[in-house]
Amino acid sequence: MSSLTLPSGSKMPIVGFGLWKVNKDTCAETVYNAIKAGYRLFDGAADYGNEQEAGQGVKRAIDEGLVKREDLFITSKIWNSFHGKDVVRKTTELQLKWWGLDYFDLFLIHFPVSLKYVDPAERFPPGWHAADGKTVELADDPLQETWVELEKVVDDGLAKNIGISNCSGSLLLDLYKYARIKPANLQVEIHPYMTQEPLLNLAKALNLTVTAYSSFGPLGWYELDMGKGAQNLLQHDIVTKIATSSNKTPAQVLLRWATQQGMLVVPKSNSKERLIENLKVLEGSDLTSEDMKALSGLNINLRLNNPAEIDPRMSIFA
Ligand SMILES: NC(=O)c1ccc[n+]([C@@H]2O[C@H](COP(=O)([O-])OP(=O)(O)OC[C@H]3O[C@@H](n4cnc5c(N)ncnc54)[C@H](OP(=O)(O)O)[C@@H]3O)[C@@H](O)[C@H]2O)c1
Repeated sequence: MSSLTLPSGSKMPIVGFGLWKVNKDTCAETVYNAIKAGYRLFDGAADYGNEQEAGQGVKRAIDEGLVKREDLFITSKIWNSFHGKDVVRKTTELQLKWWGLDYFDLFLIHFPVSLKYVDPAERFPPGWHAADGKTVELADDPLQETWVELEKVVDDGLAKNIGISNCSGSLLLDLYKYARIKPANLQVEIHPYMTQEPLLNLAKALNLTVTAYSSFGPLGWYELDMGKGAQNLLQHDIVTKIATSSNKTPAQVLLRWATQQGMLVVPKSNSKERLIENLKVLEGSDLTSEDMKALSGLNINLRLNNPAEIDPRMSIFA
């Protein structure tokens, strides 16, 4: 099984390609190469600042007949500055224009945090801070209003599915109370240093698919000079031993640990060889239950992506 079927009937590939920190100047080529290598899901976001380039890679692959639009599953995310009910629709349309697409397969709320609107013509992507690079300007848009607007985006055919990222259990339960269209996917940080079993159990009970991001733990964060206090998971003794005994690479062990628990994964790589290695994660034998246990035993609740570290008024996981 290489995809999960969402309640809408869409088939979501279990292994996708993460676009965060994919360099703008190589993004079109990387996306094209990833499609050539067999990737069908791309995990983008307004905040990644490379949607136009990613769209160029998609266009080239379609123009050359490698794939058809309907073979691809494109995920994007709406940034915190665009939660206002009067801007959700036009922001969705703008992001689709950048990608050169008529619809997203999945459109996620990136964070359950609402920030002051920034005109994309002035500054894009706006990021967490105001133009001074220091102040965080919160806005008052309730999540429910944003969700209702996203439901209209689905009604109008601009997104096949909607979902949410970086959401805690209590907020998810509230969302389910009013959602006319239930979230199709929850995208959260999960790796052996941050296993999140209670949230996974809740998602299972809600029949909600989960995409695990930052599967390699701190490695992806080193690129931003973050997470340096934590040991590289790919070099952890337990991971390398399991890699040898299971005939997989350390990266494949970490991805397989997630997919074997029923999660989807979106590893990022700027390297042609490594992106192929990651896509092959579903091949070969399962990890043993002892291996799965040993990997989960590495949990230290290491949260690498926590907006509370930017401003305590954004303590969404407290
Ligand atoms: N929703 C959210 O808030 C959120 C937050 C974070 C991430 N995400 C999504 O999740 C995706 C992945 O997360 P991430 O960017 O944190 O990083 P990641 O995929 O966990 O790790 C990427 C790092 O691992 C390296 N790498 C990739 N494949 C490898 C392999 N086979 N062997 C050794 N090293 C390998 C990459 O280097 P090279 O590029 O040099 O190969 C890069 O340094 C993002 O791109 C994004 O789509 C979402």
